[in-house]
Amino acid sequence: MELDEEIRERLRRARSVVAFTGAGMSAESGVPTFRDAQTGLWQRYDPADLATPEAFERDPGLVWRWYSWRRERVAAAAPHAGHRALAEWEQRVPAFVVATQNVDGLHQQAGSGRVLELHGNIHRNICSAERGVVTEPVPAGADDQPPRCPQCAAPVRPDVVWFGEALPEQAWQAAIRAAGEADVLLSIGTSGLVQPAASIPLMALEQGAAVIEINPEPTPITERVTVSFRGPAAELLPQLLAAVG
Ligand code: OAD
Repeated sequence: MELDEEIRERLRRARSVVAFTGAGMSAESGVPTFRDAQTGLWQRYDPADLATPEAFERDPGLVWRWYSWRRERVAAAAPHAGHRALAEWEQRVPAFVVATQNVDGLHQQAGSGRVLELHGNIHRNICSAERGVVTEPVPAGADDQPPRCPQCAAPVRPDVVWFGEALPEQAWQAAIRAAGEADVLLSIGTSGLVQPAASIPLMALEQGAAVIEINPEPTPITERVTVSFRGPAAELLPQLLAAVG
């Protein structure tokens, strides 16, 4: 990887680093992205049918079955060299935060200790009425319907953020703070189309951070970032870490 000397120096001197990640970060682990032209989930499915509170109200079984399918995909996935490079990077700087839009838990599996989940976690369930985390193991629902909350009998749903819903407040505030304090922000595998998360790299840029993008495709922020590397995360992140030394 060709790294401009000035960027290398900024990376070396960075005390505070944020890795902002999206679905492309998990692509090479076998978790499909949302918007890739051939393989993206939103090419085949309409988000309005599957990832909104209205969709769950209309047809809870359909949404539950779709998330069961995604859970199976995620359960079969393992972190790759890019996830491991980020976990290793954390060991080298005083403040390192992963702010992820992914719900698959692969950063934690790879050993990252400080992970802000901006869109929730697919492994967790919550009560759709009271929002409390359902810790009891949920038996498979009859006819593949969602199981019922043991407290109030409302249908259980995955603890993920759907379109039209607010981000988890604590994670969101912590991500804004981290972006504001970052010397370097890595924007990895995200199309940058879903707000408010997509504003995180620009917040860091405005505060003077070096913003480094890793993505095989250009995105809306490509022209604005400090440097953009065109390629896959599993390949480029270990190279970037090695180049920093
Ligand atoms: P997208 O599917 O919108 O974008 C995936 C990005 O990853 C694209 O820019 C790809 O070019 C890039 N990509 C693909 N393969 C890659 C690889 N091997 N290495 C690096 N990059 C790669 O996913 P997100 O930006 O995460 O929201 O989408 C944001 C949100 O939209 C998701 O969190 C989800 C979705 O609806 C919710 O579920 C709330």
